[in-house]
Amino acid sequence: MLHLKKYFQDVNPGIVLDIGTRFGEFAFTLAEALPEGAHIIGIDCNADTIRQANEKNGGKGIEFRVGNAEHLDFANNSCELAAMSNTLHHIENYNAVLNEMLRVLRPGGTFLINEMYSDNQNEKQQIHFAQHSLEAKLDTISGNFHRVTWKRDEILSILSKFPLETVHIIDLLESPEMDAKLAVKTSSLKSRVERLASGTAAYAELMEQANQIEKRVSQIGIQRCTQLVYIGKKKV
Ligand SMILES: C[S@@+](CC[C@H](N)C(=O)[O-])C[C@H]1O[C@@H](n2cnc3c(N)ncnc32)[C@H](O)[C@@H]1O
Repeated sequence: MLHLKKYFQDVNPGIVLDIGTRFGEFAFTLAEALPEGAHIIGIDCNADTIRQANEKNGGKGIEFRVGNAEHLDFANNSCELAAMSNTLHHIENYNAVLNEMLRVLRPGGTFLINEMYSDNQNEKQQIHFAQHSLEAKLDTISGNFHRVTWKRDEILSILSKFPLETVHIIDLLESPEMDAKLAVKTSSLKSRVERLASGTAAYAELMEQANQIEKRVSQIGIQRCTQLVYIGKKKV
């Protein structure tokens, strides 16, 4: 569990953005840590995802909106906090998105990126990385941009170029309940390969990867990769 309260003590009432929100998973983590008066808006470019977010999580204090992170529909300096969790590697032009997050943030406002990384992971986490890499390939086949993510230092190198101060860097290990959700995803890998890659040149290789992952999960288990949480203030 990520304890963010101590980093959010100076967040004023106002707009908080969770970009690439999906069903608001990270928006609820933000909500637990934010002071009263935060208007949390979860933004996702996929209209069907936002429809499902409203069905599952509407009326629980998060507003869900369709929007593209590359062109946020908010004025300059209008937000208190801009966050993005496990979405940076889904975006080809990530620098445009990071600049856009800073544009809408007020000077002194809080910027937060949470991103899983690929290196220094234990054996069970390496199985998660293999599963995630296969999912990235399947997403790419279906026309959705999805990198396998980066090494820890590569993420730091991307983020350190932005004008932030009072930066905190946290290595986050998720709770065992999150790992149980990954095992459920494992069981759908082969049917996803069947549905998305059947008849393509890559099919045999992808199915072999899905089989290997399923076998290793049953033998060893699976654990979510450690994530890098990068929190800073927009320079005044
Ligand atoms: C892996 S999910 C992240 C879910 C959630 N934030 C979390 O931490 O669990 C990535 C989400 O980013 C969304 N996304 C990808 N590119 C985007 C963009 N340019 N603008 C807004 N959302 C985007 C996808 O539709 C997807 O729902």
